[in-house]
Amino acid sequence: MIDFQGKTAIITGGAEGIGLSIAQAMAKRGARIVLADIDGDQLQIAAASLSNNAAQVLAVTMDVADPQQWPSLVEKTEAHFGDIHILVNNAGVVGRNGSIESTEHNDWRWVTDVNMMGVLYGMQYVVPRIKKHNKGGHIINVASMAGMMGVPFAGAYTATKNAVVSLSESWYQELKRHEIFVSILCPAFVQTRIHLAHRNKQERYKSAKPSTPPSEKQLAAAAHMQQVIDNGLAVEIVGERVIEAMNEHELYIFTHPNYRQLVQHRYRAIDAAFERAEKSPLLAHILDEEPAGFTG
Ligand SMILES: NC(=O)c1ccc[n+]([C@@H]2O[C@H](COP(=O)([O-])OP(=O)(O)OC[C@H]3O[C@@H](n4cnc5c(N)ncnc54)[C@H](O)[C@@H]3O)[C@@H](O)[C@H]2O)c1
Repeated sequence: MIDFQGKTAIITGGAEGIGLSIAQAMAKRGARIVLADIDGDQLQIAAASLSNNAAQVLAVTMDVADPQQWPSLVEKTEAHFGDIHILVNNAGVVGRNGSIESTEHNDWRWVTDVNMMGVLYGMQYVVPRIKKHNKGGHIINVASMAGMMGVPFAGAYTATKNAVVSLSESWYQELKRHEIFVSILCPAFVQTRIHLAHRNKQERYKSAKPSTPPSEKQLAAAAHMQQVIDNGLAVEIVGERVIEAMNEHELYIFTHPNYRQLVQHRYRAIDAAFERAEKSPLLAHILDEEPAGFTG
């Protein structure tokens, strides 16, 4: 069992939703919490709710997509609490549902900068600080079930979440020798405000074009999204599930076992493609070669 007492955890996107749920679960076990979020008002509400439950909390308003803001988060955390032990790269956004060609470049950049670059910056600025004290640590990178498969009409979101899964798999191998354990949280639908992510969209990603009203199809997709989120898993369960899986040093953290068959469907398609490659006369000469260069 991980001893959270006196450990310091930075949680991005911690002002509400899944980030706050993880913060509550860690605070309950004695961790000192740093909530980092772009939404300053919501952040104050979240910090006050944790403090009311006797947690030690620091709230930092910041944009994870801006690398210039990370050093100050790290400095403030260390000045307030000392060593950093846990990083939860949770902040994430979903763009408007749409086809490849109808998704504006600004939207691709927004989703990519927050969901993927935000995670990368977190790793680059915080991991050296965890390595420095040499007492090990934990990283939770929040991907999604969308990181386990291709989801149509959500290309940018799916691409970034797949990237978070692959990057975390690489980092897991890089960091385990430092006793820093990387986990990838892959939830399906959870009751949060993720479908309203544009509420916190930075000015620089907003379209210069006058905004067109959403089409019938987009309105229907938004209504459907609202419905599946409303029927999703209660957010309080997610934080507790993360602790359960951290205790087992699990690389993949799933919260929706009912999605197993969908993921298996993908594996079967990949396996079948390998089988076809094995039967190709063009490739027979490399069948017995050891695979090279893919292990840590
Ligand atoms: N809710 C779901 O169904 C679901 C499913 C799979 C994965 N996820 C992932 O879970 C994570 C948390 O999402 P959530 O569902 O709790 O949504 P949420 O909208 O309730 O919370 C996201 C938080 O991230 C913050 N945020 C957004 N942009 C930011 C930025 N640039 N810098 C700092 N903070 C920023 C928001 O202010 C908000 O507090 C995301 O990575 C999301 O992709 C959610």
